[in-house]
Amino acid sequence: MEIKISLDKQNVISEIDNRIYGSFIEHLGRAVYGGIYQPGHETADDMGFRKDVLEYVSQLKVPIVRYPGGNFVSGYNWEDGIGPKENRPHKLDLAWQTIETNEVGIDEFQEWAKRAGSEVMMAVNLGTRGADDARNIVEYCNLDIDTYYSQLRRKNGFEKPFGIKLWCLGNEMDGPWQICAKTPMEYARTACEAAKLMKWVDPSIELVACGSAHMFMPTFGEWERTVLRECYDHIDYISLHNYYGNPDDNTPKYLAQAVNMDKFIKIVEGICDEVKAEKGSDKTVNLSFDEWNIWFHSNEQDKETERYVVAPRLLEDIYNFEDALVVGSLLITLINNSDRVKIACLAQLVNVIAPIMTEDNGCWLQTIFYPYMHASVFGRGTALNVNIDCGTYDADELKDVPYVTAAAVDNGNGELTVFAMNRSLDEDAVVDAELAGFEGYTLQEHIELNCDDFKAVNSLENPDNVVPNNKDIGETITFAAHSWNVLRFKKV
Ligand code: AHR
Repeated sequence: MEIKISLDKQNVISEIDNRIYGSFIEHLGRAVYGGIYQPGHETADDMGFRKDVLEYVSQLKVPIVRYPGGNFVSGYNWEDGIGPKENRPHKLDLAWQTIETNEVGIDEFQEWAKRAGSEVMMAVNLGTRGADDARNIVEYCNLDIDTYYSQLRRKNGFEKPFGIKLWCLGNEMDGPWQICAKTPMEYARTACEAAKLMKWVDPSIELVACGSAHMFMPTFGEWERTVLRECYDHIDYISLHNYYGNPDDNTPKYLAQAVNMDKFIKIVEGICDEVKAEKGSDKTVNLSFDEWNIWFHSNEQDKETERYVVAPRLLEDIYNFEDALVVGSLLITLINNSDRVKIACLAQLVNVIAPIMTEDNGCWLQTIFYPYMHASVFGRGTALNVNIDCGTYDADELKDVPYVTAAAVDNGNGELTVFAMNRSLDEDAVVDAELAGFEGYTLQEHIELNCDDFKAVNSLENPDNVVPNNKDIGETITFAAHSWNVLRFKKV
């Protein structure tokens, strides 16, 4: 097929907030223990962090990492994870039905994040706890003047405040699976009061209120409206969470899932603006898509996992080639909505629905690592509107899905990157590109991720089974059937 892609340097969506390339580490499965932290491992550093994992995380240039959950946070007492390790309690984690040893807590995690070149996005427990503990942890992490909690931090060896800027007011509090789930109004009131106190302790922080756990929750819409009406003046972002999957093995439909992500974003954006108008407010609440990924491969095996053990294998989805294509298209959607999506977290980062996997004898990279790395490394700058003239297809309820989806980022420094995914299973797309305002730019690199086998995966034994390649640059640009593409144009 022949397609036309046009863009214009002046036709801007937004300056991209780098935090859309964030990720997530939860106390869940082997994300922390045996993932980022494994004292005694041959690559362990002075604090027990695996350097091989840190090396891969650095390659991803992850700007923020959400922590410590997820569902876990709704039953978590943060004080259990500070102070001398020998005094830390082993506790039941009811969210994932495991044992939490508390060897890693906020003291260690903020240090890990520094070593990874990331900032922490910290969640507070609004399940079993509330405003009081929320304000105390802000005081522990961020206060410089002498108070009980800042002195406690100093006593634990951390003279300087951690300076955690971004905080989540709980997690998925609408989900019946959540520890101490709440009705919209119960959550809205709790979040509002917690937000007030947290900002009174440190007015420089930014707060993310929980939106719905996903777009098909029964209270979706009503939840957002209630939370925004109650909390509007005290919060900065509302969260969106969504996981995608291909349980029916319907590849054309699966490759179109970004359409659902886009719709979800537009609906929440609309609700934010509706409440803004109701209130006659000058303030805009933006979106934090702080859990997104593919999650379905491990569902059945997780039902067999032994309960109440330390760090069992949980949510260890093994990602195939088509999953990587979908992740690429979801990243394109986040970039194309960067005027309102200011934060997003690929959930998660290590071992648990993750791009990076560990075993005692090594680390390996999943297929989804590559589009995530490409977007995070090359997708910084100004997002431009991209007009794509191409054919469409229907996939069940998803109608008129364009075969090609794309996003473009001008880095302001003589480099333009176009990310594109061809959803067609059998037709290459020959591209006629019109890049207004980029005269003198030429294509320097065309990275492609493609594979004949949609179900091909990487593994510790075969880590390079699905990896990107550099295509030869010729007269024409072609997006091969079912491929992820990164075009890097540079001013010469
Ligand atoms: O990321 C895995 C889980 O998915 C998180 O703990 C929870 O917030 C969501 O349901």
